[in-house]
Amino acid sequence: MEEEKEAVKQYIEDLRKKIHYHNYRYYVLDEPEISDAEYDRLFKELEELESKYPELITPDSPTQRVGAKPLTEFGTYEHSIPMLSLNSVSDVSDVRDFDERVRKFLGIEGGKIEYVVEPKIDGLAMELVYENGVLSVGSTRGDGTTGEDITQNLRTIKTIPLRIFSDAPPLPLLEVRGEVFMPVSKFKELNDALGARGEKMFANPRNAAAGSVRQLDPKVTASRPLDFFAYGVGRAEGKEFSTQWEVLNYLRNIGFKVSPLIRRFEHIKDVIEYHEEVKAKRDELDYEIDGIVVKVNSIELQERLGTISRSPRWAIAYKFPAREEFTRVKDIVVQVGRTGALTPVAVLEPVPIAGVTVSRATLHNEDELRRKDVRIGDTVVVERAGDVIPEVVSVIKSKRTGAEKEFKMPDRCPVCGAEVIKEGPIVRCIGVSCVAQLKERIKHFASLRALNIEGLGEKVIEQLVDRKMVSDAADLFFLTKRDLLKLDRMGDKSAQNILDALEKSKHTTFARLIHALGIRHVGEHTASLLADNFRDLESLRNASYEDLVSIPEIGPEVAKSILLFFEQESTKELLDKLERAGVSYEKKEVAEEEERKILEGKTFVFTGRISMPREEAKRIVEQFGGRVASSVSKRTDYVVAGEEAGSKLERARKLGVKVINEEEFRTMVR
Ligand code: IVH
Repeated sequence: MEEEKEAVKQYIEDLRKKIHYHNYRYYVLDEPEISDAEYDRLFKELEELESKYPELITPDSPTQRVGAKPLTEFGTYEHSIPMLSLNSVSDVSDVRDFDERVRKFLGIEGGKIEYVVEPKIDGLAMELVYENGVLSVGSTRGDGTTGEDITQNLRTIKTIPLRIFSDAPPLPLLEVRGEVFMPVSKFKELNDALGARGEKMFANPRNAAAGSVRQLDPKVTASRPLDFFAYGVGRAEGKEFSTQWEVLNYLRNIGFKVSPLIRRFEHIKDVIEYHEEVKAKRDELDYEIDGIVVKVNSIELQERLGTISRSPRWAIAYKFPAREEFTRVKDIVVQVGRTGALTPVAVLEPVPIAGVTVSRATLHNEDELRRKDVRIGDTVVVERAGDVIPEVVSVIKSKRTGAEKEFKMPDRCPVCGAEVIKEGPIVRCIGVSCVAQLKERIKHFASLRALNIEGLGEKVIEQLVDRKMVSDAADLFFLTKRDLLKLDRMGDKSAQNILDALEKSKHTTFARLIHALGIRHVGEHTASLLADNFRDLESLRNASYEDLVSIPEIGPEVAKSILLFFEQESTKELLDKLERAGVSYEKKEVAEEEERKILEGKTFVFTGRISMPREEAKRIVEQFGGRVASSVSKRTDYVVAGEEAGSKLERARKLGVKVINEEEFRTMVR
């Protein structure tokens, strides 16, 4: 009996190890080795065994991420080593001063100082305590000395290991420090969902992360898309680090996500150059960074430099220009979307924000507008995060003169004059032939991620609708050159290009076609789920409510919306017309691969340590039409260099071949 129990225990332990490993592959490396179904099977098996043998459940089991009961308040947690803050600068001259100060202090004015540069993640600093490799406490930075114990919330973040990942015996004690953040794309989705439910929205990804991590109920935190980058250690018993670089690599090796943007430089001028490089890439990243952090690499030198008033002398935050600006609301207008939703939009005194001129900002919906109390004439703070639509964050009420005007949502559609209804916080035009909705539906149909009809821009679509040349998206395919030539500023060549693009778009994928239809609540992701689960449009059209909700991730609201869409007479007409036009689709993304041969004729060489396996890198290059070679020559177009790249990198530099890092490579093929 005992023996049997021991065997079960061992089996469960092996299962956990496997699951931890696959978690790591999936969430941290973003390189799964097994299918979702296989993962689910392992997970389920563990759950079943644990419910049979509850005495064998351990807190570091992957099944135990969420489970704790809601708290009434958080406890406090005292950091054993204070969590410092950083002095920040935004001018080049201050960075040079920093470098000079460091040298002077160390008495090595002429010598070399190595710096490590990391992105400054705009999130919240946390400390994670691991005892014998198992996560025991997770806390906020607080005032640097005492933070809040939010262990049960941090446990729900998939990129925070519950157990250190290593072959070597774990350290008796390890404190890991890093930043919790919310990816920009996920923030946008969360805000859209909160807005649709009439709940308070977050001003930016950082606030969303802060609000999510401080929930008393860990289930709420678990439902929020949080992520974690590690960048430092506190106590590490039984381990000596000699450099920050070593710390970062150690953290990466034991299962933490470490930013791929970290670099090492020997000259401050390279640090300054890298600041520019990262700044230029800022909008492409799916997380907000507000600058770079420059740290003296040597721990010994760090210790010699010490700290002054809670900031280290050995590090500095070199900030990017702010994403927030003040400006004035000239007017508030209403925009009618594809589903008829009326969105209040602030028309602004144009203002440059981190390189982009912003002249409009969304106010989301009436409730948000009231909550923020935005009035025409107000001075407001506008924020732009990544490529998310700029938004009005707050009103500077002290600047009010009394001349500001309150805005009232119209009770009729400003475009077609039809009645509006209120669905929660959303005001919706119910006009069936509202041209604003039609224009937006067609724009969506033709957009890059739907049918990708190149050259069919907004202006053309608007004219086509205004001149009643199309009454739904399918009519596009029946346009002739004579029709198109009637439009403003349309030459023979452009007209032909549009016709060619229309012809090309007729051959698409099932997922794109579903997405293009513009069914409410069916975005790109849901469209591809549907494409995976139905044979063709006919079977999707005939799907029952049960068929739909049996697909994981498809809930009642989405299912109802799909049913409603296919019940419409106008949908039937649209689909018939699409068929008559000869629109066809393939189940797989073959068409997409063909049209995205963006690496055609390009030769790549990979060298050094990168996080994806070489076969994977090769597959990606080939998928986009490129070729992978094993040695660098004059004909090489790109060398993708990872950690510890050696002779190939040298050769590339000598031959003047373009060298990029993994992050840049990923951006190329995204
Ligand atoms: S190091 C030297 N590294 O910036 C110890 N901080 O003002 C200070 N932060 O509270 C922390 N990314 O929230 C460090 N790569 C990074 C960081 C980083 C973001 C934040 C962190 C900290 C604040 C310092």
